[in-house]
Amino acid sequence: MSQPRVGFQSRIGFIMAAAGSAVGLGNIWSFPTQTAQNGGAAFVLMYLLLAFVLAYPALMAELTIGRAANTNPVSAFTKLTSNKGSQAYGRLVGFLCIVCGSLILSFYALVAGWMVTYTAEPITTGLGLTEASSWLTGSSTMRNLTFTWLFMFLTVWVISKGVVEGIERWSTRLMPMLVVLLVVLIAYVLTLDGAEKGLQMYLVPDFSQIWNPQLMVSAMGQAFFSLSLGAGTMLIYGSYVKKEEHLPKLGAQITLIDTGIAFTAGLLILPAIFVAEHNGITIFDASGKLIAEDTLVFTVLPALFNSMGNVGGFVAFGFFALMTIAALTSSISMLESPVAYVTEEFGLSRKKATWLVGAIITVVSTLIVLNFESLFIFVIVLTTKYGQPLLGLMTCVFAGWLWHRNAILKELQHHSQAIEAGWFWKIWPWYVKFVCPVAIAIVFLNSIL
Ligand code: PHE
Repeated sequence: MSQPRVGFQSRIGFIMAAAGSAVGLGNIWSFPTQTAQNGGAAFVLMYLLLAFVLAYPALMAELTIGRAANTNPVSAFTKLTSNKGSQAYGRLVGFLCIVCGSLILSFYALVAGWMVTYTAEPITTGLGLTEASSWLTGSSTMRNLTFTWLFMFLTVWVISKGVVEGIERWSTRLMPMLVVLLVVLIAYVLTLDGAEKGLQMYLVPDFSQIWNPQLMVSAMGQAFFSLSLGAGTMLIYGSYVKKEEHLPKLGAQITLIDTGIAFTAGLLILPAIFVAEHNGITIFDASGKLIAEDTLVFTVLPALFNSMGNVGGFVAFGFFALMTIAALTSSISMLESPVAYVTEEFGLSRKKATWLVGAIITVVSTLIVLNFESLFIFVIVLTTKYGQPLLGLMTCVFAGWLWHRNAILKELQHHSQAIEAGWFWKIWPWYVKFVCPVAIAIVFLNSIL
């Protein structure tokens, strides 16, 4: 089993890949719409706080475990300790992370498929293909299946090319496009009437909301989802990082890019919602609350683009292309850890492993499409609200209690001996041991009780 393992070729390649994983529908869709529904700026503040004080330390646990073990999540935990009990615990956590990541991909591919349909619609409309357009934006099962499969195919295709030619190359190509699209769209939307009202809701907090337990648990789920934690993703990406890199710094950069882009996406979505209101589109439901997430993205925003006249088609295309790109750089990261597991544990070639795992996940996606009412929300809540934070907690427990402190230090010191005297090493070991598990548990209990 000592084949040389290929890793990311450059630091920027890793940053693009990890940021590509982190920045996804979670940032551009879920974060702004959750903000809109959870009291605006109060949610933003709580999210930023939890991203840095809980999700960043958990991200560091995943990256460090991955790089030290230099293997897939299931074997990684087992490799780092010789205690039988800790190994069994680690195997379980690693395996659950892979299952969680695969289940996330199974619903993510469906949502990403919708983004592809809405990217194609302005083109068919521009060509005068009215029937095609209404099929694309209708909600037939056939449409859902076609585009879920198409999106899964794209994901499988990139991952089958490998870490360098697939993940690194495509993340490095797509991430700059994402940023440019985002900035251009914001610049345009902010010139429109009504945008200011959205900005106000986004940026002026209602402090009475901030300690609301439901708001906290949503913000925590959002932070863990957005940093791709508890899904084996950051662990496997960490395993491809060169030994001499300064991991705590890389982790901080990923967290900054991720939260930065989520925040920036809010500058697009919230003003857009209020521009829609200004144009006469209904954005509040009968009880005075902003209408729900999917309606916001698939009804309010398309209605807004329609009301813009000729530019509307271009804006719609740009907006949904942005979503599609963000989704693809995330979906490939979800597929990588099960694929690495199957290649490394069962000796399959990457190509075979990718197609096999891709096929299994596609079957699950298909079941979700066919049993949408009962499965869609169920899988989302199971994986993102409970699975990811709990697996993040279990990973912190491993790093804090079951893995030797000296071994962790040695791993980080590959970069430089000086890490021992730095701020990170002073705070993180006890933080990940006590604060993270307790804080995650409290936020949970608080929301359940
Ligand atoms: N972070 C991604 C997003 O914000 C989602 C994701 C979750 C990616 C888990 C990988 C693993 O959309």
